This record gives sequence, structure tokens and C-alpha cells, in this order.
Amino acid sequence: MENRVTIADLLKAKREHRQIVAVSCYDYTTARLAAQAQVDVILVGDSAAQLVLGHDCTLPVPLDFMVTITAAVRRAAPDIYLVADMPFLSYQTSMADAIRNAGRFLVEAGAQMVKFEVTGAYLDTVRAVSDAGIPVMAHIGILPQWIRTVGRFRAEATTADTAIDLVRLAEQMVQAGASALLIEGTAAEVAQAITERSAMPVISCGSGPGCDGQILVAPDILGLSLESSPKFAKAFGELGPQAVEAFRKYGEEVRAGRFPDTEHSYHMKPGQAQQLRELLGKND
Ligand code: KIV
Repeated sequence: MENRVTIADLLKAKREHRQIVAVSCYDYTTARLAAQAQVDVILVGDSAAQLVLGHDCTLPVPLDFMVTITAAVRRAAPDIYLVADMPFLSYQTSMADAIRNAGRFLVEAGAQMVKFEVTGAYLDTVRAVSDAGIPVMAHIGILPQWIRTVGRFRAEATTADTAIDLVRLAEQMVQAGASALLIEGTAAEVAQAITERSAMPVISCGSGPGCDGQILVAPDILGLSLESSPKFAKAFGELGPQAVEAFRKYGEEVRAGRFPDTEHSYHMKPGQAQQLRELLGKND
């Protein structure tokens, strides 16, 4: 706990122009690896809907599931700044629901901040959740939970008119109490302008290099994603093919009777196998 990254550390990183390294991941094993690599922030993203549960969008992931996996990630990464993503319908229904559900991530899962997707209609919700003592990361730009409304996503704020709206929205969110911003899939120039004007840390998800930090989902970083990834998702490893090869070798050795071998089996104490054979023989 003493070494845990706090919001003060993120603000200091912003002030000192040190990039904040954030990863979206969903499980104990991956979070341990990310923590060992000393990332600053882990987001337990609602992209778990696709990457853990196999849905085609973020909408179906249940709140209880998000709380459970956030707690698992916290156990794996006690010192990393932990942000929990609020899933669809966990904050849209009322401000009371938003506060109660956001609070669950802090109380039950050990998160330090919640993230939710916002338009201008959510200023009061951001204010209410922040006023309740729950730090909020306001997610702007591409809003994956709006997929049924927009049909398909494309880069945000690519014209001056749409850009100025996003800059204003970002400012309003910070005024309403947001402690951080996440900008997804937005023109790099606009994300940089928002970052320069914001007193709070701004994390880019596919919004160029001009923000205070970057986030990608762990399966993309590791090269594990099987489906096509967005343009901004760079793979820094090729674990997918390695994983397939490991499963293939396992299958080959099992089928050929080479696994498990003596080294990977438990054995009876000396002399006990013979005694067992005698006992079995007596009972025959
Ligand atoms: O759900 C998620 O993982 C996210 C990141 C892509 C930012 O929101």
C-alpha cells in the first residue's frame, strides 16, 4: 500500500511531462505481468465484453462480472493505480445508481477511480459521483457504448466544428469534477489541445502522442488478439502464434503418450507401490 501509485503521482507525472503508461486488462495473470513491467495504471475495461466474453460490442458485460474481475486485478497489482470501467446501464439509469455502482468498485474491488463514457448529458452524473468522493475518469471521443446509436465508429473531431465541441466538453467535464480524461479515437491535434488546456491527466487511446499518457488493451499489446484490431493498436509482442504452438505441442505429446512423464507425475513413497500391489492381489 505504501508504494501504491496515487492520483497525486499521476498529477505529478503530468506536471513533469512524464508519460503515464496505462493498460486495459481483465485478469489476475495478465495484471501480474503488467505490474511486474511497472505500468502506472491498469484499467479494467468493459472491452472485457469482447475480449473475455466474446461479445461483438461492450454492451452485454454485467456489472457484477466487472466488479469481480476488477477485484482479481487488484489482488494481482496491489501497487498499480486501478481504474474500473462502468459497464452499460450501470450509470445511465440515475445518479443514485451511478454513485452506488461506482462505489462498489471502490469498496468491493479496491479500485481508485471509475471511468464512464460521457456526453454533455452526463455533466451532472460526473459531478454527483465526484462529489460522493469517487474519482471519475471521463471517457470522451469514440464512445463504444453508443454503438447502437451511431452504427459504426470513425475517428472523432476531424473537423474544426466537431473539434471545438470536444474541447468544450473536456473543459466542462473537468469543471464538473472529473479527475482525469480518456480520449478515444480522436484526431491527434485535438487530443493535444485538450491535454494542454486540462489541469487533469489526459490519457490517449488511439488519439495520438500529445496526451499525458497512453492506453492500449493488453491482448493487443501482447499480440494475442485473433480478430483485426483498430489502426492505433500496435502489437509489442507476438504471443498469439506462440500460444497456438504451445497448445498444439501439448496436444501432440498427450496423443503420443509422451505427457505426462515421470517428472510431471506424483509417486508413492518408497516400497508403497509394492505393498499396494500385494493388497490388491489379496483382494482379487
Ligand atoms: O474498455 C476498454 O478497455 C477501454 C479502453 C480501450 C480505453 O475503454
